[in-house]
This record gives sequence, structure tokens and C-alpha cells, in this order.
Amino acid sequence: MSVLVTGGAGYIGSHTCIEMQNAGYDVIVIDNLDNSSKESLKRVEAITGKAVKFYENDVRDKDALRKIFTENKIEAVIHFAGLKAVGESVREPMMYYNNNLISTIALIEVMTEFGVKKLVFSSSATVYGVATEMPLKEGMPTGAINPYGRTKLFIEEMLRDLYVADSEWSIALLRYFNPIGAHKSGTIGEDPKGIPNNLMPYISQVAVGKLEKLHVFGNDYKTVDGTGVRDYIHVVDLAIGHVKAIEWALGNKGCEAINLGTGNGTSVLQLRDAFVKASDVQVPYIIDPRRPGDPDEVYANADKAAQLLGWRATRGIEEMCEDSWRWQKNNPNGYEK
Ligand code: NAD
Ligand code: UD1
Repeated sequence: MSVLVTGGAGYIGSHTCIEMQNAGYDVIVIDNLDNSSKESLKRVEAITGKAVKFYENDVRDKDALRKIFTENKIEAVIHFAGLKAVGESVREPMMYYNNNLISTIALIEVMTEFGVKKLVFSSSATVYGVATEMPLKEGMPTGAINPYGRTKLFIEEMLRDLYVADSEWSIALLRYFNPIGAHKSGTIGEDPKGIPNNLMPYISQVAVGKLEKLHVFGNDYKTVDGTGVRDYIHVVDLAIGHVKAIEWALGNKGCEAINLGTGNGTSVLQLRDAFVKASDVQVPYIIDPRRPGDPDEVYANADKAAQLLGWRATRGIEEMCEDSWRWQKNNPNGYEK
């Protein structure tokens, strides 16, 4: 059975291609390589021993999508393609609305033309906005505090409207918490362009000597040690969550928001310490002021994924750090030769 993976050359997409192929699916990828390289898919093929059919196209290009749906018998779609940097979305909001919204609209229209109504969408815990209560549960109020977050929220709402209008659809809105880690092979992983915004790639680039020290954004939060707490999830667990979501979509109809997190919180300094232990490399740090807009704590209630998809994350912080480090150490410049 063939599944189209948009944005499949990216960080989460490439890991999901592996788990989908391992589960027996044929994987077709569309990616414009805006934030990735073809090399990731070559490495996916080397890991699984199975071919990935690749189309280098923009998801906003409806003719390109029609060609893909004509040439392949696609049963379902996992939609990762999108821009994801919060700071950039504040500086370039129209670029984010254009890319994230138009690509999703084009995809839905072409899926409808071809009668394919099973979709797994990459949403984010960011759709909970400024939450007053933890852990986050799917039924809690949503909101957004930046253009990136608004694109995710608008798309969720749009997909809910789609299901209300046509109950033949099966749509899983997967709200990811903080994906880190890499495939055990150490050959694929997160490859951010420029200086990383997110914590784990920053820590690993300090460890490998590309950055001098970690800047801890604030140590006066109401948390275990004053530094921000997040729900880090191993990207392979997350990828397996997509296989489960596809299985759900193939056997059910509906539109469901589902948290993909572990339910456990880890502070910045706890993650840094776990990384030092796993890598046996020093990660010097200084305490800087808070990053504007960062909440004290964000973590999931992960029960709905267990009930609906039969999925729970199984990999702990230590394994996440070991696997992030193996990827970084073996590929100090990411996919660049
Ligand atoms: P990524 O940038 O590594 O992957 C996204 C992929 O989509 C890239 O390969 C990029 O080239 C491609 N792409 C972007 N716009 C495209 C377009 N118009 N047409 C075709 N391809 C396009 O990011 P990721 O971390 O793998 O994230 C995947 C998805 O998950 C994104 O939608 C992101 O918003 C969402 N998400 C990510 C995180 C995270 O922390 N990584 C958290 C929550 C949600
Ligand atoms: C980021 C995204 C958010 C997305 C979430 C899940 C930003 C601003 N927000 O949030 O939209 O939903 O990932 O993937 O990118 N930290 C440091 N030093 C650093 C980097 C981070 O101390 O150099 C701290 C932060 O203050 C935070 C924690 O580490 O407490 C995690 O930060 P980050 O990895 O950026 O993730 P989120 O802030 O959760």
C-alpha cells in the first residue's frame, strides 16, 4: 500500500519513512528540499534496503500533486511539509501563511479530486497557546502566540471544517511535543540551517565544538531547577506514532487531535546533564535572560494516543541524548559532505 509523505526528506519525515517502510508500506515523498537534502532519503534507503520514490516539487504546485496521484495508487497522506521556525515566522509572516496554508489547501483539493480521504497532519503543542494548566490535554482551549503557531491552528480548524462537511474523511491532527534524538544508525538526524534555535541541536553543536557554550534562557522559572521544562520525545517514537495514526486512519473515520508526547517534563539543565553523561563530552553553559514568550513548563497528557492509537513513547532521555550525539558526532556538518 502506497502512502504519500510530504516533507519526507526533513527531520521527522525521514525517520517516519523508515518506520513506514519497516511496517510494509511503500513510501512516496514530495519535498521541495527547502530545508533538507536528497541525501537524507538516500540514507533512508540504505537503512531499510527499500526504495523511496521521490518527487522534488512544491506541495503548493497542484499539477505536480496531480501527476503524483496519477502515477501512484496512493491510499493515504502524511503531511509534514511546512516551515517551522518561530522567530522567522514573526519576521516573515506572509511566507509562513503562504507556504503552510496554501500547501495544505492544494493538498486537500487534489486529495479530494482523487478520492483519497485519509490524512495525518503535523500539528504542534504550540496550538495550546498560553496554557494555564499542565499536563496538556486535547480538549483544552487552543490559541497561538506567533504566526507559525497560527498556521498550525488555522490548518487544524480548516481540517475540522472539512470533516464536518464530509464525514468520509479520516484526519489525525498530531500535536507533537519536542522531538529530539535520531535513528540508531547515526546516519540520519536533525540538520538545522545556521545557528540552531532549539535546545538539543544547540547542545550537540556545543559538544562537537561548533559552538562555544550553551546559553540557558532563564533560571528563574517556577520549575524544579529554575530552567524551562519541556516534554522531549524521541523522533523514532514520534515516527512510530505516525504508523499507528495511519493504521487508525485506514480503519476509522473522524477528525481527531492527538498529543504525541511522553508525559514527562525535563528541564534545560537536566537535558544538558543527561547529554554530558551520554556523550562523555563537556557542554559549558551560561545563564542568559529569558527568551520572550517561553513558558515555564510544557508537557503532555499522552493518554488519548494510547487509547485511540495504541501508542506510547518508550524511549527515555538517556537514549534520546545518546542517539542525538551519535548523529552529531558522525555528521558534524549534517548532510553536507
Ligand atoms: P523539517 O524542516 O526538517 O521538514 C519539513 C520538510 O518540508 C523539509 O524537508 C522541507 O524542505 C519541506 N517543505 C517545506 N515546505 C514545503 C513545500 N511547500 N513543498 C514541499 N516541501 C516543503 O521539519 P521537521 O522538524 O521534520 O517538521 C516536520 C513538520 O512537523 C513541520 O510541519 C513542523 O511544523 C512540524 N512540527 C515540528 C516540530 C519540531 O520540533 N521539529 C514540532 C512540532 C511540529
Ligand atoms: C519550540 C518552538 C515551538 C514548538 C516546540 C516543539 C520556538 C521558539 N518554539 O519550543 O513552537 O512547538 O519547539 O517542537 O522555537 N533553550 C535554552 N537555550 C537555547 C534553546 C532553548 O535555554 O539555546 C530553552 C528554552 O528556553 C526552553 C527549552 O530550552 O525552555 C526548549 O526550547 P526549544 O528547543 O526552543 O523548544 P520550545 O521552546 O519548547
